Amino acid sequence: MLAILHPDTPLDSDSYRQTLQFLENLPGVSLKLHEVEGATQRLTEIYLIGDTKSLDQADIEALPAVERVIRISDDYRILGRHRDDQRQSGFTYNGVEFSQNNLNVFAGLCAVDTPEHVEIMMRTLQEHGQQCTRMGAYKPRTNPYSFQGHGRNCLPWVFETAGKHDIRVVAMEITHESHIEEIHECLEKLGRPTGVMLQVGTRNTQNFELLKAIGRQKTYPVLLKRGFGITLNESLNAAEYLASEGNANVVFCLRGMKSDAGHPHRNMVDFAHVPTVKRLTRMPVCVDPSHSVGSRDKAPDGIPDVMHATAQGVIAGANMVLVDFHPKPEKALVDGPQALLMDELPAYLEDIRLCHQLWKNRQA
Ligand code: E4P
Ligand code: PEP
Repeated sequence: MLAILHPDTPLDSDSYRQTLQFLENLPGVSLKLHEVEGATQRLTEIYLIGDTKSLDQADIEALPAVERVIRISDDYRILGRHRDDQRQSGFTYNGVEFSQNNLNVFAGLCAVDTPEHVEIMMRTLQEHGQQCTRMGAYKPRTNPYSFQGHGRNCLPWVFETAGKHDIRVVAMEITHESHIEEIHECLEKLGRPTGVMLQVGTRNTQNFELLKAIGRQKTYPVLLKRGFGITLNESLNAAEYLASEGNANVVFCLRGMKSDAGHPHRNMVDFAHVPTVKRLTRMPVCVDPSHSVGSRDKAPDGIPDVMHATAQGVIAGANMVLVDFHPKPEKALVDGPQALLMDELPAYLEDIRLCHQLWKNRQA
């Protein structure tokens, strides 16, 4: 059961104290408090955990600080979509809105390589009205001898270039808890020229200690990739780890599933699950067509498979697209074969715009 308090209830008020005292004394029930900082108000949510079936909802609703009560199932308590649950989805970060109703494109480099390529990327994105990008500094690689990313060394010039071109959010994968501090320290030192969305890669979807560490900080929102070899339920529970530690600003990313079916794509594209994730949870849903398809191959219609896969995800209602582009894919240090070319960007963005509009028109 979830008790949502009146917005901005002071935590030192009598109404709050009386409410908490009543709830704390319920037999067989423990409480978990969750603060939601909205753009204009703060919400306190109190999760009642344990033997709540016999509780009378009206008794809880009558408590002085309580605005409303929702009966929630055990699955995805914080991020899930529960019966009679009218709570809004999403959040705003650094001036950019993330919700189940809008769409942001994060085109960029799979892996940061040279300052020149980063500059070309950010400048081109700005010229095309983009305010977000993807930039990999810490790369999780299959082979220990493969390029592992420039790590903390590239952060200053990546963030400065982003700020120079008015890029507001950089999606950046981290593979270790210490990377949070490295990113934070660098952004603070530079006077926060841009924002960062911390990305958890498919290889770390069930790295629970990493999830807990990321969930404990509330400064940066999180992009969580679906695990490529586990069930959807397991991946959604991984997202709930972040929220249960305090950070519910999570975007869930579909990126294809490993398949041994001789599939021509690097991973089996799973974008039909966009509406499923939106039905089960309140998280905005991202699609990553690059890591799903894994190549720049084109269909006989001349359209790259990456673009076709993107269209499928966006028409199905995706809220974010994470996609690899590169000024010189043959020079890319990671995943060059799947990066689209810079001169394909305008058509790609236009295709996304049309597909998103189509999704809007298709809504009941
Ligand atoms: C890059 O984004 C990933 O780290 C990459 O897909 C890993 O794959 P690989 O190390 O098998 O090339
Ligand atoms: C990435 O987006 O850079 C990446 C490594 O993706 P994934 O975790 O989905 O393989």
